[in-house]
Amino acid sequence: MDKPNTTDAGTERDLEEAVRRALESYYRDGKPPWDTGVTPPELVALIEGHSERDGERDGEGNAAGNGRAHGAGDGGAENGRADGARDGGAGNGALPPGRALELGCGTGTGTNAVYLARHGWEVVAVDLVDRAIEEARVRADAAGVAVRLLQGDVTRLDELDAPGPYDLFFDLSCFCGIPPHRRDAYAAGLTRRAAPGSRLLMFGYGPGTLGDTFSGVTADELRARFEGWELVDVTPGTNPFPTFWFTLQAGNA
Ligand SMILES: C[S@@+](CC[C@H](N)C(=O)[O-])C[C@H]1O[C@@H](n2cnc3c(N)ncnc32)[C@H](O)[C@@H]1O
Repeated sequence: MDKPNTTDAGTERDLEEAVRRALESYYRDGKPPWDTGVTPPELVALIEGHSERDGERDGEGNAAGNGRAHGAGDGGAENGRADGARDGGAGNGALPPGRALELGCGTGTGTNAVYLARHGWEVVAVDLVDRAIEEARVRADAAGVAVRLLQGDVTRLDELDAPGPYDLFFDLSCFCGIPPHRRDAYAAGLTRRAAPGSRLLMFGYGPGTLGDTFSGVTADELRARFEGWELVDVTPGTNPFPTFWFTLQAGNA
């Protein structure tokens, strides 16, 4: 698949179109490489919290270890995470169910949005590519859970029926591939829909890892773009190239 590059794309609109075509080709060609069928342990840790038994397993280095497809470190999200990032108010740090918005859900929403729905969350999941949404719908139906799936652009949420407010935003490798000129709009769209104290859990690739000229995300970028949010945790992934799990929290907690 050709990688879209800022140098190839004459205008910002051209770059958006090139990215869209590249994404569509992944779904047209079959199962995309990122669709692992595994809920990342970082999401599990945020939703379910941690028990003392989890801590023991972390010590053995195998807690939730089957979910490392997106580069979770040993011990999953536990490593270095500030207490504030995990303590959702429930006794063991579990996040009380509320409304969740998954950004760039892909077909993988059949795993992650379904996981959230099964844990009592009311889930809306958005992806740019129709085929991804169609397949995700088949999977959600097969799982027998209600997930609202919307085809659309996560940087143009006002065009979708997804007013929120949301208590949780989940982004597994979407923001890091969005053309830079659309990223402030992404942040603004989430900010407008954020319930006080809501979380954004994001996995992203570091700059220069995806073979094009614009992909990647850093902690500094998120601090700059997400005004009114606090970056409460950054946990490196274990891929052979830089990857990160970021947790942000909206203000007025
Ligand atoms: C690397 S894939 C990850 C998919 C899914 N989160 C997973 O882990 O299986 C990135 C996804 O984000 C979607 N995406 C990229 N830019 C988008 C945008 N502007 N609006 C909505 N979805 C977008 C792509 O279509 C793709 O499904």
